[in-house]
This record gives sequence, structure tokens and C-alpha cells, in this order.
Amino acid sequence: MRPNRLETDPSPARPAAEDRSRPAPGPGSSTRTPSPRPGPLPMAGNSALSAAADRTEPPVISEFMQTALANPGLISLAAGFVDQESLPHQDAARVAAEILGDPVEGRRALQYGTTNGDLGLRRQLVALLERNELVHAGTFEGLESRVVVTTGSAQLLYLVAEALLDPGDIVLVEAPTYFVFLGVLETRGARAIGVAIDEGGMRLDALEATLKSLEARGELDRVKLIYTVAEHSNPSGISLAESRRGPMVELARRWSRRHRIHILEDAAYRGLNYEGDEPSSVWRHDPEGETVILARTFSKTFSPGMKLGFGVLPADLVRPVVSLKGNHDFGTTNLTQLILARVLADGTYERHVEGLRAMYRRKRDAILGALAGEFAPIDGAVTWTRPRGGMFVWLAAPVGVDLGTRGAVLARCLERGVLYIPGSFSFPAEPGPVPTNYARICFGVAGESDLIEGVGRLAAALADCMDPVA
Ligand SMILES: Cc1ncc(COP(=O)(O)O)c(C=O)c1O
Repeated sequence: MRPNRLETDPSPARPAAEDRSRPAPGPGSSTRTPSPRPGPLPMAGNSALSAAADRTEPPVISEFMQTALANPGLISLAAGFVDQESLPHQDAARVAAEILGDPVEGRRALQYGTTNGDLGLRRQLVALLERNELVHAGTFEGLESRVVVTTGSAQLLYLVAEALLDPGDIVLVEAPTYFVFLGVLETRGARAIGVAIDEGGMRLDALEATLKSLEARGELDRVKLIYTVAEHSNPSGISLAESRRGPMVELARRWSRRHRIHILEDAAYRGLNYEGDEPSSVWRHDPEGETVILARTFSKTFSPGMKLGFGVLPADLVRPVVSLKGNHDFGTTNLTQLILARVLADGTYERHVEGLRAMYRRKRDAILGALAGEFAPIDGAVTWTRPRGGMFVWLAAPVGVDLGTRGAVLARCLERGVLYIPGSFSFPAEPGPVPTNYARICFGVAGESDLIEGVGRLAAALADCMDPVA
């Protein structure tokens, strides 16, 4: 067992995020260990693996979920699940019964559908975008031909990476970013390079500086994508400032030389805003529809179990993405598509989201109140973001306090019965070094009293470990 493993984790060993510092694969390179000389069968199992499978590590989050399951009484502020009580089982049951009770609709729901998704649903998605972007009905007429329905937005992110990236290609990401997408890039053999953020999200001066230094090193042509979790980011809780959205599109266009640099706007938490309106999406700042790929999902605002997402793609990416999806599954589950189409059409969806906002706002306030109360005595030493939406708070301890998998704080937290996600998972290896003094805490799952108790335990664990640094 590697020293950085969580003690209770039964899953196969993987290097810690801190080990992401290994060099990224270059074009045609492989991180595989050379095969041993031929010997008697059966051989050691993984010699048959593809390079992509070999370099793909098990998902970070599964270790933490195993740990939570194995430790009843542990308060998990780790997994980014949604609130269990909020799941709309009655609405889903009613609409599923309506569909399945109708012989024509019921049979349609139980049949295969089309690879790009049900046309009725895609029209509803366009209407939803019109409502979200505060434009008149009909403004996005015809957009359904550029909408692809996917099995969660995770599939869309994967398909986009598959469509655009070869090994050695470069993706510029927020530092910190959504660690699952870093896993996708690892599988593709692509290089993720982090761009600094501030309270307005990705810093455009830092983005430009990164592009300039890549140009100086002759690597600009490898840059394919800028990835941003623009709304209430996972993991930081920060949104991309409205004033940066148009300029980010302009910047991507300006640096697109031999080929286009796309922006992948991951709007997984759009709709979960607890203070004021959300700004127009980055996608809306690209009227030509050539630069921005918009990824949306109903996992956070309706049901992750239905696993329904969608993408709005530049016209020339529709065919490749749909062709690749054909190889994955030739279409997302028809029944869930028809359920979503109905709840969108009859207003159930938006009523549900309204209720979620009120519920998560209370939880957000509870965790922020607990953080302020617990950390008041060590005034300013520990800081955290104050998200206006979503379900994550990003916590920073003083440099030198190790919140990573090898650090004392996580071990103390496990002893005290609370779990968080080490922030180090959310940083790519480049430009490095990966900081270890951050944590992602999620207020989606735990109830208000557990959130308060969990923050108390976290603060106590941190106090145990911070004395020597103070
Ligand atoms: C930022 C972000 N993007 C995408 C996803 C994928 O969600 P799904 O595939 O369920 O739509 C998640 C889920 O946690 C997320 O946090």
C-alpha cells in the first residue's frame, strides 16, 4: 500500500495528486512500463492494456466515497452529491407513469432513440436556453441541430476531448479545476496547464501570459482548448466575472492561428444561484457559434440518477461528436429524455429548481456561518470562498499546512470523523508545483446540523496540526 492512501480504502493503489508532477506524455510517448520478456502463460494481467487504459488512474472520488461508506458516523463534506431529500421522486413517478401509461409514448420511451437525442427534448433545451439567457422565445430558432443530448455532461466532456485532442495536445484549465476532467485529459494523453484564478475566475492576463510563453516555446499549435467551469465552480465556488466572458472569447479567437482554440464552458451548476441573477453564459458572447462549446446537465438541478446532459456545439463539431457518441452508445436513454422533455414543458423543472435554490441557500449560509464562527479565533490564517451558488467552498490553510493525502490534517479529520477532498487533486502538474494547503468542502449532501458539526471537526483537526506552524 502506498503511504498516501486513505487507510480504509480497499481499492487498487493510485498515486496521490501530488504525484501528478510526473512529466506529461509528449506526442507518441507512453508512461507504460516496458513489457517483461515473454514467459509462461498466464502473464501479469496489465501487459495487454492499451496505453490509454494504462495511464488512466481510478477516479479520485471513489476512494473518498468508499471511506465514507466504511465509516458510519463520518460526516462527509467530500462527495459532490446532491441533497438526497431534494430528489424529485414524486414528479419523476408522475411523469414516468404518464409516459409509460400511454401505449404510443410508452413504446417510444422503451425503444432505441437517435444518437443526437430526441428532437422534442432538444427543442425544449433550446427554449430553456432562451429563458436562461433572458432572450425572446424564438431567438435561438434552429439551434436544436447543434444540440447533442448526452449521458450526463460527463459524456459530453469526454466526447469533446475525444473529438479534439491527440496525445501531447494542450488544454488550459483553471487552477484549481474539476478534477474529473483532468482524468479525461490523462486518458487522452493531453497536457493540462493551469491558469491562475482570482475572485473573478480565470485571470485573462495569466491566460494570455501562458499562451505567450507557449508560443515562445513553439508549442502554441498544441493548444486546443480552454476549459472553464464558469458558474459556481467545482471546486472553488467562484464564477467567471461577467466582464471577462466576452474578452475570453475574443482572446481565444485572437490566439487561434493554425487552428481554432475552442472554449469548453462547463455550466454544470448553472441555475443554482443564491444571490442575484447569473450573467449571460460565455457561449452567449460567441454569436458566430464557432468558438464556445457549452456543456449543461440536469444532474445538479433535477436528478443525477437520470444522468442527462447536453452540449451546444459549433456546427463543424456536431458530426464528429455525434459519430463518436455513436461508437459509445448510439443514443442516451430514451425514457429519461422523454421524462425531462415533459418536466421542462410543463414548468415542473423550473419550480423544482426554485425550491432547490432556497434549500441550498440555507445550507450555504449554514456552512459559511460555521466557518466564520470556528475560524474566528485564528483570525485570517484560514480563508475560504463565499460562493454565490453551487455547492462548494474552497478552503485555504497557511502555506506549509498539508491538507493533502499524505498530510496530517486528513488523518486527523478521519480520526475526528469528517472528510473533505484535498485541493491538490484539482491542480494539474503544470506549471507546478501543486499546492497542498487547499481543501474542497461540499455543502450539497450533509444536512445543516451535520454541516455545522463537520466544520467544527475540521476546525479542531486543523487546530491540532497548525500549532507548529503558528
Ligand atoms: C463541474 C462538473 N462538470 C461536470 C459534471 C458531470 O456531471 P454529470 O455527468 O452528472 O452531468 C460534474 C459533476 O459533478 C461537475 O461537477
